[in-house]
Amino acid sequence: MKLRTSARPAAVLSRRTRPAGTHPNPGPASPAFPRARRLTRLPPYLFAEMDRRRRALLAAGHDVINLGIGDPDQPTPAFIRRAIAEAWKISGVHQYSPGEGTIEYRSAIAQWYRRVMDVEVDPRTEICAVIGSKEGIAHLPLALLEPGETVLVPEPGYPPYTSGAVFAGGRVHYMPLRRENGFLPDFEAIPSATLRRARILWLCSPNNPTGSVAPRAYLERLVAFARRRRILIGYDAAYYAIYAEERPCSILEIPGAKEVAIEFQSFSKTFHMTGWRIGWAAGRAEVVSALRDLKANLDSGPYMPIQHAAAEALRSGDAEAAKIRAMYRRRRDTAVAGLRRLGWEVTPPPATFYLWGPVPLRAGSTEFARRCLEEAHVVVTPGNGFGPSGEGYFRIALTVPEARLREAIVRLGKVKW
Ligand code: MLT
Repeated sequence: MKLRTSARPAAVLSRRTRPAGTHPNPGPASPAFPRARRLTRLPPYLFAEMDRRRRALLAAGHDVINLGIGDPDQPTPAFIRRAIAEAWKISGVHQYSPGEGTIEYRSAIAQWYRRVMDVEVDPRTEICAVIGSKEGIAHLPLALLEPGETVLVPEPGYPPYTSGAVFAGGRVHYMPLRRENGFLPDFEAIPSATLRRARILWLCSPNNPTGSVAPRAYLERLVAFARRRRILIGYDAAYYAIYAEERPCSILEIPGAKEVAIEFQSFSKTFHMTGWRIGWAAGRAEVVSALRDLKANLDSGPYMPIQHAAAEALRSGDAEAAKIRAMYRRRRDTAVAGLRRLGWEVTPPPATFYLWGPVPLRAGSTEFARRCLEEAHVVVTPGNGFGPSGEGYFRIALTVPEARLREAIVRLGKVKW
């Protein structure tokens, strides 16, 4: 499961010459309906692959502790469930939503920006509903990129930054995240020739998978750089609300950012709503407009009762969000203390519900994750699944209760590393 670090997407053998079964994502052996090249350029989706292995163990009767995908175990807060239970009874909500989202939903988002961070965002022109931030992130390059143009992607990073660029016929230039740089991309180090072709730079803060947070001063430098270079910042803020002490910045808080940035926000992690598929994009109006026009051709927006419940979450969810944050902080501290007792080197992340650390083993990430699964029945994500710079690391999602985290640590402690 490897991403390439070249400035170009992975090379693809021609359909005619590609020997069956040699590609990492070959699909069925029959050549009757070969996959499009754009799909064969990608490895199997990281979490789909891990889930297959987990299910096989479950089917064999094993008790598997899943610290793999970041999919919260706790239910969506009751007030949000109540909101949707009321909303679906309203006449007309079965019909198509405005593609960009209802004005009620977009206004709730604008009010949230004003209330939480004193930022003005126009709900009519600067906000678009998305069917989960993954959808918006993956589609943005289709709305903006010409074939052959470049997308700057942090690596290790969330796979849709790459898939979106590849599906749009773009090139990917990876920006390695290194511990010595606080796991932040060194955008000043990108060669000028690459910058001339670059249209979008992705930044994820709080960061999946490393848990790092981009400080305000870094974001100010990035915004100045993007304005100078005329590159759009795609800011993935899906973990915005999951922090231990200090609230992370939205890119839209940075003066001038709205000229060069689009922020993607999600309810998935903040309110345990992964399956609901709801989020938003907010930022520069012409970019939002391009995304809206693209999506008008692809989908018809989220189900209206979901938008209504999400709006309610923004209006009245601060206390619940704080409880959720506190829960993840407790889990983080339990897991860090337990893993350190095993001698593992883990640092408490300032945000997200992920622990990112070096594998306590000479072998690489893949072998480590395989042994966690097979010998301890604990799913951890191999760091190299997020890109080659993740080699030698693992990621643990704190998406099980503390008792299960303790049990996982006991099991991991019994493996002879
Ligand atoms: C992850 O585990 O990295 C995320 O949950 C994946 C996602 O949000 O799609």
